[in-house]
Amino acid sequence: MSPRRDRPVALITGAGRRVGAVTARTLHAAGYDLALHYRHSADDARALADELERQRGGSTLLLQAELAELPALPALIEQLLAYYGRLDALVNNASAFFPTPLGTATPQQWNALFASNAQAPFFLSQAAIPALREARGGIVNMIDIYAERPLAEHAVYCMAKAALAAMTRSLALELGPEIRVNGVAPGAVLWPSDSKPYADQQAMLARTPLQHAGTPDDVAGAVLWLLRDARYVTGQIIRVDGGRTLSV
Ligand SMILES: NC(=O)c1ccc[n+]([C@@H]2O[C@H](COP(=O)([O-])OP(=O)(O)OC[C@H]3O[C@@H](n4cnc5c(N)ncnc54)[C@H](OP(=O)(O)O)[C@@H]3O)[C@@H](O)[C@H]2O)c1
Repeated sequence: MSPRRDRPVALITGAGRRVGAVTARTLHAAGYDLALHYRHSADDARALADELERQRGGSTLLLQAELAELPALPALIEQLLAYYGRLDALVNNASAFFPTPLGTATPQQWNALFASNAQAPFFLSQAAIPALREARGGIVNMIDIYAERPLAEHAVYCMAKAALAAMTRSLALELGPEIRVNGVAPGAVLWPSDSKPYADQQAMLARTPLQHAGTPDDVAGAVLWLLRDARYVTGQIIRVDGGRTLSV
């Protein structure tokens, strides 16, 4: 293991693009050095690392992995510790999201959705426990309001995120007092590229008390708060959904 750094270190999965990349910028600006995990988005992840390195040299480490390969996950933590010598925060952000209409869902789809949304967060967290304990650190799991209120034709995704919500509470129970474990449940923040039609999006936002979509910065701010500031909070899942869960 390399000598322990002065700055806190965070590992973010799926950090190359979208919400993961914004969370990376937010934590980096708050003083965290980063391990940026990516799977296919190598160009985006490298560009992000270059951007952050220009701001603070030696502050990023790129880690490539298919998170469905569960036996390989402890090696990611080992690589990180070999480079940084400490781990203070794990953000389980990577996620597969696609429909599985009843009557068509396959075991392969089940495995893909559960691998990134539930199994990898569990096994990565498990591998990170000793380092997080030493750092008195934290885990934040990116969940979804659909873990509570199902999205039609997405039963397997909703079930996988519900497993991640259950994991958040179980780990919080078992890992205190040294490690806090919390979750963020976004509502509409960034639409997927094959998202629902614009009119449907607007109708859904009109039913949301704050009447607009959130931004990745809204989500990243909640992650930072849970990791850095919420010293007496564990086992909680913060909805960042503009109040959408309140409306029918
Ligand atoms: N966007 C929203 O409005 C919204 C709403 C509710 C919840 N959320 C949650 O917030 C988090 C971030 O959302 P997002 O929309 O930014 O996510 P996203 O773009 O759908 O996915 C983030 C990254 O996950 C990685 N990933 C997926 N499957 C993987 C696997 N098997 N192994 C390794 N990496 C894998 C991909 O990395 P590569 O590109 O490198 O392959 C992808 O870029 C997710 O957990 C999501 O469920 C988002």
